[in-house]
Amino acid sequence: MVADGVVLVLGGSSGIGAALVRRLAAGGRSVVFTHRTGAERAADLVAELGGRVRTVPCDVRRPEDLTAAFDAAGETLTGVVHCAGAWTYTRLDELTLDELDDSWALNARSVALTLQEAGRRLSDGGSVVVVSSVAAELAPARQTSYVMGKAAAEAAVRVAAKELGRQGIRVNAVRAGATDTPQLRATTGEAAIEAMAKAPALRRLGDPDDVAAVITFLLGADAGWMTGTVVEATGGLR
Ligand SMILES: NC(=O)c1ccc[n+]([C@@H]2O[C@H](COP(=O)([O-])OP(=O)(O)OC[C@H]3O[C@@H](n4cnc5c(N)ncnc54)[C@H](OP(=O)(O)O)[C@@H]3O)[C@@H](O)[C@H]2O)c1
Repeated sequence: MVADGVVLVLGGSSGIGAALVRRLAAGGRSVVFTHRTGAERAADLVAELGGRVRTVPCDVRRPEDLTAAFDAAGETLTGVVHCAGAWTYTRLDELTLDELDDSWALNARSVALTLQEAGRRLSDGGSVVVVSSVAAELAPARQTSYVMGKAAAEAAVRVAAKELGRQGIRVNAVRAGATDTPQLRATTGEAAIEAMAKAPALRRLGDPDDVAAVITFLLGADAGWMTGTVVEATGGLR
């Protein structure tokens, strides 16, 4: 990440994205982050972090919202993080066209549009990070739409790294493992969460800041020779 300039965090009002906004603000960065349903949470975060942090509404499934979020970030944009994403636990025989289309728009298509827009707006030294999931590789049961979306997002990252590399822009993905966020608590039963906490080598759930730390590293100059990579932040889930 170039030391100055704005970082745009898509999906910064909760969970991993909110931890990242806090971490970037603590490092003195200017941040524009987006919210969708969490306007109040977003306003609270801005109030907590002060003047260098702003929030704008955005549904990343809507291309015009994505363009508006980039517009709001302005011309000094040096980093972009795509953190918006959601899963369901739907059996293959219960999958609907609506769910497939919705998950694709959120978890895959919006990533391609973000990479496209980042290529137009970032300059030499810019960095893009996409939050993926270890599910893209482990392919758990009852996650067809999510696994498809995240695997496609990782593929888009690898292609974009090649296309945007000639402009000096780096593009990487972070695969989170089970991370203790509002979404995990809202979608997953207590027994399943307990099992997830025992699975990694480090024997606990990830904290949102565990993942935010890796994203921050990838944004920064110390990761200046890394592009087109998919980094795991899972506590050792193999
Ligand atoms: N938690 C885990 O165990 C885990 C594991 C692997 C990967 N991940 C990935 O990590 C990322 C963050 O997830 P999280 O667990 O931190 O979830 P979270 O607490 O629900 O936060 C999700 C964020 O994405 C935003 N968002 C959701 N749908 C959106 C849409 N259509 N348009 C724009 N923004 C949208 C939310 O905004 P509002 O709240 O304002 O609506 C929120 O800021 C996701 O990509 C998820 O797939 C999470």
